[in-house]
Amino acid sequence: MILGIETSCDETAAAVVSQDGEVLSSVVSSQAVLHARYGGVVPEIASRRHLELVTPVVRQALEEADTTLGHIGRVAVTQGPGLVGALLVGLSAAKAIAWAGRLPLVPVDHLEGHVASLYLRPEPLEPPFLCLLASGGHTLLLAVRERGRSERLGTTLDDAAGEAFDKGARLLGLGYPGGAEIDRVAEEGARDAFPFPVARVPGLDFSFSGLKTALLYAVRDLGEDEARRRRPDLAASYQHAIVRALTVRLREGAEQTGLERLAVVGGVSANSALRAALPDARFAPLALCTDNAAMIASAALYADPLPYPGYLELDAYASAA
Ligand code: KG4
Ligand code: ZN
Repeated sequence: MILGIETSCDETAAAVVSQDGEVLSSVVSSQAVLHARYGGVVPEIASRRHLELVTPVVRQALEEADTTLGHIGRVAVTQGPGLVGALLVGLSAAKAIAWAGRLPLVPVDHLEGHVASLYLRPEPLEPPFLCLLASGGHTLLLAVRERGRSERLGTTLDDAAGEAFDKGARLLGLGYPGGAEIDRVAEEGARDAFPFPVARVPGLDFSFSGLKTALLYAVRDLGEDEARRRRPDLAASYQHAIVRALTVRLREGAEQTGLERLAVVGGVSANSALRAALPDARFAPLALCTDNAAMIASAALYADPLPYPGYLELDAYASAA
């Protein structure tokens, strides 16, 4: 069994996954309420909270999997990218647990982790496939030809898709994190009420900053009261523009690479409009869309383990290589 630990942002997570990709437990303690009053994640607050939560969350993951540390064969942990202070808490905890049990440690790239959410049971996806990774920090188009390895075809030139949702939600006076809020409010609105633009950038890259500005102007032109009254229409139209941008690129990527199977992972893959727009794509299971440790343990099945005790020097990294 693999114990996975994830602390790259504002979720403290631990999970136990079996060798053949079955999730035996997955515990996620979200700090979202803690950061909501600031409208975003405050790195120092996140680190301190991880420090308080990491041990109880690991304990709970072991308990829910009905197992003990003695039965764990290796420890997997997110090494980066993410908030460095937050990452260090998980990495230190993982090192300590692995070292005490004389176990191998598997450092996992958070982005490979999101992709690996597709490899878990009951419906593991087999490469090759084209994967859209859309989260709060990244928007990537990846060609996945074998497990554990992905080729980057496109990325965002400015904001990530999840960031666009979060910033849009803020402009609309909705709570943080904004993606799920916009998703909810948009249900009552008309997606063609406002003609928001989809940026056209060269290649297979993405851009969302123009869209955010368009929403800002629309809200300003309507005035406070009218903008609140039309909030469902604004949310639906804004969401539709993001969904269009993502789906158009995914289709173009499929055409260019010849990869027929499509997959979507990361926090934004929880979006109901995106799911509806891509009926032929594989989506990560809802519980594994946003950050979790089961995906990290899953990725560890396709990454190189560092044998005991050669990992104590290992450092976290903040940005993608
Ligand atoms: O993957 P994730 O948990 O963390 C990162 O690695 O960044 O993604 C978080 C992002 C946030 O920006 C959040 O607003 C977005 O995923 N998100 C959604 C939905 N649920 C979460 N965006 C759109 N619709 C949703 N239902
Ligand atoms: Zn993530």
